[in-house]
Amino acid sequence: MELKNLISSFFLLFLLVGISSTTAASTGKIKVRRPCKRLVFYFHDIIYNGKNSKNATSAIVGAPAWGNRTIMAGQSHFGDLVVFDDPITLDNNLHSTPVGRAQGFYLYDQKDIFTAWLGFSFVFNSTQHKGSINFAGADPLMNKTRDISVVGGTGDFFMARGIATLMTDAFEGEVYFRLRVDIKLYECW
Ligand SMILES: *[C@@H]1O[C@H](CO)[C@@H](O)[C@H](O)[C@H]1NC(C)=O
Ligand SMILES: *[C@@H]1O[C@H](CO)[C@@H](O)[C@H](O)[C@H]1NC(C)=O
Ligand SMILES: *[C@@H]1O[C@H](CO)[C@@H](O)[C@H](O)[C@H]1NC(C)=O
Ligand SMILES: *[C@@H]1O[C@H](CO)[C@@H](O)[C@H](O)[C@H]1NC(C)=O
Repeated sequence: MELKNLISSFFLLFLLVGISSTTAASTGKIKVRRPCKRLVFYFHDIIYNGKNSKNATSAIVGAPAWGNRTIMAGQSHFGDLVVFDDPITLDNNLHSTPVGRAQGFYLYDQKDIFTAWLGFSFVFNSTQHKGSINFAGADPLMNKTRDISVVGGTGDFFMARGIATLMTDAFEGEVYFRLRVDIKLYECW
């Protein structure tokens, strides 16, 4: 009888130890993540408005049947595909010396709210930075901040991976916007 009790209490003990260790193991997975590298840049998009083809840094290359490539379509620009080659600066001044180019596209992919999907690279060829950082992700641009993925990099940013927090720093009608990009890399080589 006593031995039986002892065995069952041991069994209970092992069970409890087992439960607490699995709990510890699963809570252990919730790590505090800190970036190994952090960089902040701004990039400037001058939108074509029908008259500024010399200055525009972006072009509508695809539009839905109910729109055209001169002016963004109605219904939250749904269906517009825009290619851009924008200067990157270290501060929020369009006229600061660019340190690189932001090159890629955005497309509007929701009818009832302004939201876009971004695929682009930061291309650097300066004394400070050489190489590229590649970005992709959904940009619900009415939100104050949005996170997109840093999916890779080359050169100084070899194998970079992380998150970029975007913030619309300025928006001037349908002619100009400026994004602040706070890059947090969680893999550094
Ligand atoms: C192009 O940009 C320059 C410099 O910012 C400005 O002086 C000029 O008016 C702009 N031209 C057009 C057509 O927007
Ligand atoms: C493009 O669409 C806008 C808005 O519907 C219209 O005002 C403009 O004339 C169109 N431009 C061309 C070149 O078709
Ligand atoms: C980078 O800049 C250097 C010096 O200006 C130039 O020789 C080189 O062709 C550039 N590389 C690219 C990929 O643009
Ligand atoms: C964007 O804002 C909306 C409304 O405030 C919110 O419901 C949504 O979760 C936000 N999206 C992201 C990706 O933060």
